Amino acid sequence: METKALQGVRILDMTHVQAGPSATQLMAWLGADVIKVEMPGRGDITRSQLRDVPNADSLYFTMLNSNKRSLTLNMKTPEGKALLEDLVQRSDVLIENFGPGVLARAGFDWDHLQDLNPRLVYASIKGFGPGPYADCKAYENVAQCMGGSASTTGDADGVPTVTGAQIGDSGTGVHAVVGILAALLQREHTGRGQRVEVAMQDAVLNLCRVKLRDQQRLANGPLREYPNQDFGDHVPRAGNASGGGQPGAALRCAPGGPNDYVYVIIQPQGWEPLMRLCGREDLINNPDYATPEARLKHLADCFAVIEKWTRGISKFDVMAALNEVDVPCGPILSMKDLIEDESLYQRGYLVELEHPQRGNYVQLGCPITLSASPVQVERSPLLGEHTEEILEWLGRTPAQIAAMKLAGAV
Ligand SMILES: CC(C)(COP(=O)(O)OP(=O)(O)OC[C@H]1O[C@@H](n2cnc3c(N)ncnc32)[C@H](O)[C@@H]1OP(=O)(O)O)[C@@H](O)C(=O)NCCC(=O)NCCS
Repeated sequence: METKALQGVRILDMTHVQAGPSATQLMAWLGADVIKVEMPGRGDITRSQLRDVPNADSLYFTMLNSNKRSLTLNMKTPEGKALLEDLVQRSDVLIENFGPGVLARAGFDWDHLQDLNPRLVYASIKGFGPGPYADCKAYENVAQCMGGSASTTGDADGVPTVTGAQIGDSGTGVHAVVGILAALLQREHTGRGQRVEVAMQDAVLNLCRVKLRDQQRLANGPLREYPNQDFGDHVPRAGNASGGGQPGAALRCAPGGPNDYVYVIIQPQGWEPLMRLCGREDLINNPDYATPEARLKHLADCFAVIEKWTRGISKFDVMAALNEVDVPCGPILSMKDLIEDESLYQRGYLVELEHPQRGNYVQLGCPITLSASPVQVERSPLLGEHTEEILEWLGRTPAQIAAMKLAGAV
């Protein structure tokens, strides 16, 4: 019989927006039973944010809440609190990313949760860890700004820039999943749950560790791979310079549209084949260009030579030619390029799903493939779609359910 990696793990999902839902969606794909708890009548705020189809759940919501069940429950009512206690007792994991102190204010602090269920893993995502910012709320860009990403992204003489990658939200979600899975594994030995805390600032800084590396390298001299050599006492924005040890740059390609660029990396062994492709065999053994150390002194010239060649052909032709000679590169793919890439659908990473309110939409599948835990991507639930079935499972009678609805508890 087919099983799933997290089969039998029940997750009480009190998350909203992106950081938390991205974590629970991953665990749902890996087979956990995820019960998303939402405010009656409103639900996760993202259901109505950036709406593109009137009265339908937004893509913001649908793309972060696949494979979950939705239960509406007002945790500020006595009936809602009682239901939540029942759910805590029957769950393996409770995860939330409310503002600081919200769950404790509703009567569910860690001591109470542990009393209710000593085996519970309680994961909370906040903007910041203990310290001066502990009580502050946070969103993606706040975390990017305070985790070192914005100060190191963009052009050297431009404004601090946030990246399109949601490293503060979804990046933190992945960190939270690691903590939860580790805590579940430890519970196998100890029989007890534990608290898992992840701060968005910490997750972003973890993902920006190469910049913290460079901050320390600065003490021993300038960072030669950075395009702007005018250093103060902090790591500057590096434009498109490579974060690794090998120089790289985004180079123009034909026909010259906004995304007709290819990112090319010059490994030491790549110089000779690159120069042959560019018709510049004369630079292969030229002492000013022959070694990585010599090239570091004038990287801009090196990339200008290569760009002269790339400008005449398409980014995909550059990729084909460079891979032929084992030179790492990446054409700049637009979101249009990606959503139209048939190969992503063929391997199930992009999936077209049907939604009762909005018709078909494209969903990203699970980015992690387990050979014995296949993923069947399912649409996000409508608000409260599973409220009745979950209340019945919790032993509530039809009359009790009707009364709770009337009282606004569910
Ligand atoms: C994202 C964030 C800034 C949103 O702030 P917000 O919209 O003001 O939402 P909060 O989480 O503070 O909660 C709002 C209220 O809704 C209430 N609420 C939410 N779900 C509820 C439910 N099911 N029943 C009853 N009340 C509920 C909370 O109790 C809280 O009320 P309170 O302040 O009176 O205690 C904030 O949640 C936050 O900083 N979260 C942690 C960091 C994070 O994850 N940020 C990224 C999100 S992608």
